[in-house]
Amino acid sequence: MFKVHAVAPNRLNALLKAMPKAELHIHIEGSLEPELIFKMAERNGVQLPFADVAAMRAAYAFTDLQSFLDLYYAGASVLLHEQDFYDMAWAYFEKAAADHVVRAELFFDPQTHTARGVPMAAVIEGLSRACRDAQTALNISADLILCFLRHLPEADALATLEAALPWRAHFIGVGLDSSEVGNPPENFSRVFAKARALGLHVVAHAGEEGPPAYIWSALQELQVERIDHGVQAIHDAALMAHLVKHQTPLTVCPLSNLKLCVFKQLSDHNLGQMLEAGVCVTINSDDPAYFGGYLNDNYVQTFAALHLDAQSAYKLAANSIEASFATLEQKHHWMHQLKQCFQGFSEQD
Ligand code: ADE
Ligand code: ZN
Repeated sequence: MFKVHAVAPNRLNALLKAMPKAELHIHIEGSLEPELIFKMAERNGVQLPFADVAAMRAAYAFTDLQSFLDLYYAGASVLLHEQDFYDMAWAYFEKAAADHVVRAELFFDPQTHTARGVPMAAVIEGLSRACRDAQTALNISADLILCFLRHLPEADALATLEAALPWRAHFIGVGLDSSEVGNPPENFSRVFAKARALGLHVVAHAGEEGPPAYIWSALQELQVERIDHGVQAIHDAALMAHLVKHQTPLTVCPLSNLKLCVFKQLSDHNLGQMLEAGVCVTINSDDPAYFGGYLNDNYVQTFAALHLDAQSAYKLAANSIEASFATLEQKHHWMHQLKQCFQGFSEQD
C-alpha cells in the first residue's frame, strides 16, 4: 500500500492538477466549444439555429439528458470533413495536456455523422490522426471507443460496426450512449457479442438516469468491462456489493450529473459514498464544452463540494489509470509517476 501523506488544504488544488491521470469518459463531440462550432459552421457553410456564440452558450441550461442531447446533436452538425474531426480532437488534447492527462479514451458517435452523409473514413481518420499526434506532440496516450446510439435500432448499430470494420485497427472498443431511459442495454446484446468476438473492449452508459436494472443488464447481457456513470447503483445494495467484489470501474462525471440535474447540488453527489464503500470510481468530464468544465475542473469542484482529501485524490487517479485499457507497462509507468508526484507534494509540506 502506498502511503499518502496529508497535503495542506491550500495545496490540494495544485496536487489535483499536477497528478497524472486518465480520462475514460469523454465524448469528443461534447468537447466542441461554441467558438469552434461557429468557426466550422462558417467554413463549411452550415446554418446554425443561434445568432452567435453568446446565444448558443445561453441555451446551455439543461433539465435532463434529453434536453442536452438535442443541443449536442445540433452542435455536431458542423462536422463534415476529416480536418474538422482532427481539429475538434486536437482542441481537446491541448486542454487535456494542461490537466496532466496521460491517457485518454475518446468516445465518438459515428451514427451522428454518417446519417448526415459524412463518410466513416473522415470521422475515424481525422480522430485517429489527432490521437497519433497527441502521443508524439503532447505525450498523451489516446485511443478511440466507437459508441452506438441507443435511441436507434440495434440493426443500425450492427450496420455501423460493419461499416467501421475497415478501420478496426483505429478503435479499441465499443460503447453505448444517447437517450437511456426506455432503451435498455439488453436491446444491444447481439452487437455487443459481435464486438467482443472481434476482440474489442466493451463499455456502456448505464445508471445515469436509468435504474439499477440497466446496470445489471449492461454487466450480465453486454458483459461490459466498465460502466459509464453508474451513479444509480447506490439504490441497489446487491449491485453495490457486486461492483465492489468485482472492482468494476464506474466512469463518473460529476459536473455532467450536476448540469443534467441527476443531483440538485454537487454536495449531494454520491461519489464520496461510492469511494467510501470501495467501488472503483473514477472522475471524468463527459461533455466538457457543455457542462462547464474539463477534467481538472471536475476534480477541483467535486473535492471542494464533498470535502475530499489527498488520500481520495490518489485513489481516484490510481483508479483511472488501472481502469484504463492501456498496456500493463504503461499503467506501471504512470503509477510510478503518480507516486512520485504525491511524494513531491508531501516533501514540500
Ligand atoms: N452522449 C453524450 N453525452 C452523453 C451522456 N452523458 N449520456 C448519454 N449519452 C451521451
Ligand atoms: Zn457520457
